[in-house]
Amino acid sequence: MGDIRKSVLECIGNTPIVEISRLCKKYGVEGRILVKLEMLNPGASKKDRIALYMIEEAERKGLLKPGQTVVEETSGNTGNGLAVVCAVKGYPFVAAMSKGNSLERMQMMKGLGADLLLVDQLPTSPRGSVTGADLKKVEEAAIEFAEKNGAFLTNQFYNPDNSMAHEKGTAREIWEQTDGKIDYFVDFVGTGGTYAGIAKGLKAYNKNIKCFVVEPEKGGVYGGHTPSENPIHVIQGGGYAVKRELVDETNVDGSVLISDQECTQTTRELAAVEAIFGGFSAGANVRAAIKLLQGEARGKTIVCLANDTGLKYLSTKLYQYEINRESGASEIIKEGMKNKKNNC
Ligand SMILES: Cc1ncc(COP(=O)(O)O)c(C=O)c1O
Repeated sequence: MGDIRKSVLECIGNTPIVEISRLCKKYGVEGRILVKLEMLNPGASKKDRIALYMIEEAERKGLLKPGQTVVEETSGNTGNGLAVVCAVKGYPFVAAMSKGNSLERMQMMKGLGADLLLVDQLPTSPRGSVTGADLKKVEEAAIEFAEKNGAFLTNQFYNPDNSMAHEKGTAREIWEQTDGKIDYFVDFVGTGGTYAGIAKGLKAYNKNIKCFVVEPEKGGVYGGHTPSENPIHVIQGGGYAVKRELVDETNVDGSVLISDQECTQTTRELAAVEAIFGGFSAGANVRAAIKLLQGEARGKTIVCLANDTGLKYLSTKLYQYEINRESGASEIIKEGMKNKKNNC
C-alpha cells in the first residue's frame, strides 16, 4: 500500500516513543523513562504541532485571512514550526526573537522563507540565557509589529489552542503508545502549553498520573519554589521564572529543579548513550525523570519529550568540540573555556 503525503504538514505528530534503559542503567535507577522524539517533526521540534493547530483554528474561526502576514514571539522553535506551516499554506511569516536565542534557529527560519524581527537582550542577560525580562521586550515588539502591519499574532503564550494541540494530539498519542501504562509525566515549561495540554489530557485518562513541572535551579516558581533575583540559565525555550496563564495549577503535582550542569551533562549522555541528539530541554526533562526515579517514583514509568534536535545548538557550548583536523583528535570544550563570544 502506498503512502504519499500531500505536504509536510501531514508529517507533523505521531512521533515515536523510545525507552532509555541504557541511560537508566548508567544512573543505576529502577523504573522506566520513555522519551517521545519530537525532533522528528518537519521543523525539528514539538512546536510544529501547535503551529499547525493554532493556524488551522485561526482559519476556521475566520481570524486569519488568505495571504495575511503571521507574526509570533518565539524562542525559535514555534517560529520554525510556523515557518513550516506558513510556507506550505502560503502566508508570509515574521518571527520576533530575542538575539539571545541560538543562531541555528534564526538560520533555519530564514531557510524556511520567514523574516526575522530580532530584539536586543537586556545588558544584564548573556547570550544563550533569555530571561523573562528579555522575553517581555520580544512580546512588545511582536504586538507592535502586528498592530502596525495588520498581521495576525498567533500569541502562543496566551492562545488556548497551544495547549489544546497537545491535549488532543500529544496526550492521546502518549496514552495509546504506552497502552496507558504511565505513572508520571515531566515537562520543562516555556509557554506552558505542552505541560498544560498533556497533563490535562493524561489526567483525564487516569487521574492518578502525576505531573511534574521541570524548572531551572534558580528560576523555580511552581511547587512552592521562589526564583532568585537574576535567574539566568542555559535551557533555551523556557524557564522564565513566571507562572504561565495556560498552566492550570491544579494539574501540577510538583516541580523538579535542574541546574545548568545537570542539564548539560544529561543532554550529552542522552546523545552519547541513547543516540537521542536533543537540545538542552530534552536533557532537563530526562534528568528530572532520573531524579524522580531516585526518589518518590522509584520503580515507576515516567514519560517526557525530547522537544527539539541538538542540531539547533551546534553554536552553543552544548556540543562544542575542539576538533583538530590535522591530528584527527577531538575533545569537548570544558565549560566556559572556549571563546566566550560563541557561547550562546
Ligand atoms: C526546546 C524547547 N523546549 C521546551 C519549550 C517549552 O515548551 P512550552 O512552550 O510548550 O512550555 C520550548 C518552547 O519554546 C522549546 O523551544
